[in-house]
Amino acid sequence: MRLGIIGCGAIGNDVAEAADTFEEITHLYLYDIIPEKQDQLCKKLTKATCVSVKDLIEKSDIVFEAASQQAVCLFAEKVLLKGKDLIIMSIGSLLDDTFRERLGQTAQKHHCKMYLPSGAVCGIDGILSASSDRIDKVTLVTTKSPKALGKKIEKRTVLFRGSAREAIKKFPKNINVAANLSIAGIGFDKTIVEIVADPVAIRNSHKILAHGPFGRLRAEVENMPNPNNPGSSYLASLSAIATLKRILNPIQIGA
Ligand SMILES: NC(=O)c1ccc[n+]([C@@H]2O[C@H](COP(=O)([O-])OP(=O)(O)OC[C@H]3O[C@@H](n4cnc5c(N)ncnc54)[C@H](O)[C@@H]3O)[C@@H](O)[C@H]2O)c1
Repeated sequence: MRLGIIGCGAIGNDVAEAADTFEEITHLYLYDIIPEKQDQLCKKLTKATCVSVKDLIEKSDIVFEAASQQAVCLFAEKVLLKGKDLIIMSIGSLLDDTFRERLGQTAQKHHCKMYLPSGAVCGIDGILSASSDRIDKVTLVTTKSPKALGKKIEKRTVLFRGSAREAIKKFPKNINVAANLSIAGIGFDKTIVEIVADPVAIRNSHKILAHGPFGRLRAEVENMPNPNNPGSSYLASLSAIATLKRILNPIQIGA
């Protein structure tokens, strides 16, 4: 299988280095808007070539995006129109309902798939299972240090409580986690997001609370930053690698 990677930053590097060791991956095609980034990554790999984005889409069987929302808007449809599978990390780009639905329809028409890794949260498997029936309520509580939220506060303070759609507008750095949970569960308008600044917090944490006929779900993760980009959680890279392994593996685990 030939893998194309758009975006050679922190996540792109982690995924490319892992994929380079996978037997099933025969070749890697790299593209970054900053040529030095793709060249630096290429030097670390054994199976990679730097190409234009047009060639990347043409030559790859599956395309992995770890670039930006803008890159998704520019390239996602082109990938799917060619019948190639697409893994998207910049999930915030799917906030626009019309755009998201159009990509889904394009994938269906061209017999390919769009994968959204669970990224920096855990518990998405439970939310997916539960939503096969009905989920009555989903809340995401994101806790960060006041510094990480750009605030000077000395005691634990709830900065925001409202819909995921509103939260994404007011706290765009939290966009991927809230978007992921909303798409997996009850949507951007019904999912409640709470953003908390806590001076005691050392790491960014995300807690999912949900209930419905299935029972109650409570899942929490405290994330370590990616060594190459403190703004990204290392778990996001690992979830991307796990998604790739899931595509390659004949045994599928999880919802
Ligand atoms: N789903 C999640 O939970 C999750 C978690 C962390 C990050 N992300 C998202 O994943 C993406 C990558 O994160 P990262 O930490 O690797 O970021 P990064 O800044 O380390 O790397 C991004 C790379 O993409 C390149 N790039 C930007 N726009 C591009 C374009 N239009 N075409 C080609 N290359 C482009 C940049 O030059 C950079 O090298 C970001 O959009 C981030 O928001 C998602």
